[in-house]
Amino acid sequence: MNFYILTLFPDMVSDGLHTSIIGRAVQNGLLSIETINIRDYTLDKHKKVDDYPYGGGAGMVMQAQPVYDAWKAVVDRIGYRPRTVYLTPQGGVFHQSQAKELALEKDLILLCGHYEGIDERVLEEIVTDYISIGDYVLTGGELAAMVMVDAISRMVPGVLTNAASGSTESLEGNLLEYPQYSRPEEWNGKKVPAILLSGDHAKVDAWRRSQSIERTALRRPDLLEKATLSQKEWESVKDLLN
Ligand code: ADE
Repeated sequence: MNFYILTLFPDMVSDGLHTSIIGRAVQNGLLSIETINIRDYTLDKHKKVDDYPYGGGAGMVMQAQPVYDAWKAVVDRIGYRPRTVYLTPQGGVFHQSQAKELALEKDLILLCGHYEGIDERVLEEIVTDYISIGDYVLTGGELAAMVMVDAISRMVPGVLTNAASGSTESLEGNLLEYPQYSRPEEWNGKKVPAILLSGDHAKVDAWRRSQSIERTALRRPDLLEKATLSQKEWESVKDLLN
């Protein structure tokens, strides 16, 4: 999968995404992450990319021309108009299900804004998806783009070495993940739950499922409402929900 990130701060994005698991996937050729500096496309002789907002008000607005030309350079190169995401607190809130869905794309353009935003006319022209990473305001779209690239990339087949770990995890089926333990068997006076040492896989699976349900009820009751539980499972958590 190929990501094209349109930004005024290419180093910030590039440095953050060429390390660890995502960096390895890039090296292995499973992903490419290209940053495009919007400033390289301005026709202004002082390399300016922003100007005052019409109608007045605080801050500056990123102008349409450099944003459009940076986007168009990618489109001309790949030969079609891929999905183009604008990172903005005005978008719908990003969710795991969208990460999975976007991981099916061959190419994805992510547009990062700064200042008071981007001229609406270019957004109308190029943006297919308006996405927020949460109900708070960042100074720019770069961190949000990095979050999205990370979450989408790990859903691309082969990026996670343990194939199962992309699906049996938090938020799968709207449940949080069960607690995990590793050696030693006893740490700080606390023992690993005995069932995990039993070698009985069916029992371990049942215990993990009940832990997932209980944890979701306690920490994210809003999610649990969307999960599919048996009658018996609902009975088991109803006391935790009130
Ligand atoms: N840009 C500024 N704040 C943002 C947010 N919460 N999500 C995505 N992009 C943003």
